Amino acid sequence: MHNLALVALAAAFCTSSANAALKLAQNYQGANFFDGWTFQNGIDANTTGNVLYQTREQALQEGLVSVNAAGHAIIKVDNTTDGTQDPTFGRPSVKILSNATVPAGSLVILDAVFMPYGCSVWPAFWMQGPNWPDDGEIDIVENVNLATNNRYALHTLQGCMHPPADQSTGIETGTLMAPDCFNQTNGNEGCLIQDPSPNSFGAGFAANGGGVFALLWDDTGIKIWFFTRSAIPSDVPSNSPNPSGWGTPTAFYPSTTCDTSKFFSPQTIIFDISICGNFAGIPSVFNPSCPGLCTNLVGTPSNYNTAYFEIAYLRVFTNGSSTGSTTQTGSGSGSTPKATGSGSSGNLHRTSTATIFTVLAAIALPLIGGYLSVTL
Ligand SMILES: *[C@@H]1O[C@H](CO)[C@@H](O)[C@H](O)[C@H]1NC(C)=O
Ligand SMILES: *[C@@H]1O[C@H](CO)[C@@H](O)[C@H](O)[C@H]1NC(C)=O
Ligand SMILES: *[C@@H]1O[C@H](CO)[C@@H](O)[C@H](O)[C@H]1NC(C)=O
Ligand SMILES: *[C@@H]1O[C@H](CO)[C@@H](O)[C@H](O)[C@H]1NC(C)=O
Ligand SMILES: *[C@@H]1O[C@H](CO)[C@@H](O)[C@H](O)[C@H]1NC(C)=O
Repeated sequence: MHNLALVALAAAFCTSSANAALKLAQNYQGANFFDGWTFQNGIDANTTGNVLYQTREQALQEGLVSVNAAGHAIIKVDNTTDGTQDPTFGRPSVKILSNATVPAGSLVILDAVFMPYGCSVWPAFWMQGPNWPDDGEIDIVENVNLATNNRYALHTLQGCMHPPADQSTGIETGTLMAPDCFNQTNGNEGCLIQDPSPNSFGAGFAANGGGVFALLWDDTGIKIWFFTRSAIPSDVPSNSPNPSGWGTPTAFYPSTTCDTSKFFSPQTIIFDISICGNFAGIPSVFNPSCPGLCTNLVGTPSNYNTAYFEIAYLRVFTNGSSTGSTTQTGSGSGSTPKATGSGSSGNLHRTSTATIFTVLAAIALPLIGGYLSVTL
């Protein structure tokens, strides 16, 4: 009895100390926000978007990345260049990959006041390991056009599942749309959860002053919370955020059905904004909310006035057991990360392909066979 009590006490102590041990490892904020990133430049070959990703120097010079008067980082699509006379026009945009990686035992917090939206606009805030899909992919923010609800997804090798809906009641507030994270199931749709809040993406997110996305990756699995601005727990912006007080997560991938230690390596953080391509630009995705052909919008700069992230901060806390992450506070001094800038971005293509299947299945089932054979 006495021994059991001690064991219970020790277990409780270990649990709470594991949380308490989360320490700030990377802080992207203000003037130093862009220090710890690799800019992937060139065309968007993998998602066939109508963008031309810029180098760091180009993006800075063109004002596509900047820090505003409020000290918030801006990542935006060019909205000054007229491309209407050029049929091959790729609108200048930005794709950045973190030099440091995020290992198991981490908490990632993104506070954004504005995220890109508008017809043809396709933003993502996501993470992936060095090899895809072997090292996993975690999509924290991704949707397109005039969507109002964000979506969360994992993409993995075979064997990582979200529990089926009837066995996961109450574990999350989001809506399970697809349970299998395996990249070869249903054209890589991923294990997909939709946020219940109509202010988790797009115009509603912006009108509400944005909010916080927080991802906790620990031995219990991967949990993601979304908080609208007015609902952000008070310890989120502190030096010692404690997710155990944040209530039911929006999305939860428990380790009981997905052994995250097996399916996920330390993750590179990625922000990008594409245009059209094989998600936003698919007519069955585009036309429910936007008129005409997606690619007809690309040349006109004023279509991109709302195509930007405005970020108050991005922070990564870890429990200190990291093997892949490089400590990088403030200026991101001297990080020498794993090979994260190797241009491994194929999964967004595959992610979008998956989403297309989902959307097509939901919206245009009668057309799916003929359509996909044309599109993919
Ligand atoms: C991040 O990596 C890029 C090269 O990929 C390098 O140019 C940049 O200086 C690195 N940043 C830091 C803070 O180490
Ligand atoms: C899934 O990943 C494998 C590599 O493990 C790749 O060969 C295959 O094309 C991918 N499938 C999809 C639909 O992306
Ligand atoms: C950190 O968290 C990971 C994942 O939950 C766990 O496997 C590891 O034991 C933890 N390390 C420490 C020092 O608590
Ligand atoms: C481009 O968009 C920004 C918002 O990101 C806006 O402040 C600016 O006025 C726009 N530029 C033009 C030329 O409309
Ligand atoms: C496209 O994805 C492949 C991996 O599938 C990667 O090697 C390549 O760098 C990516 N290209 C671009 C332009 O993102």
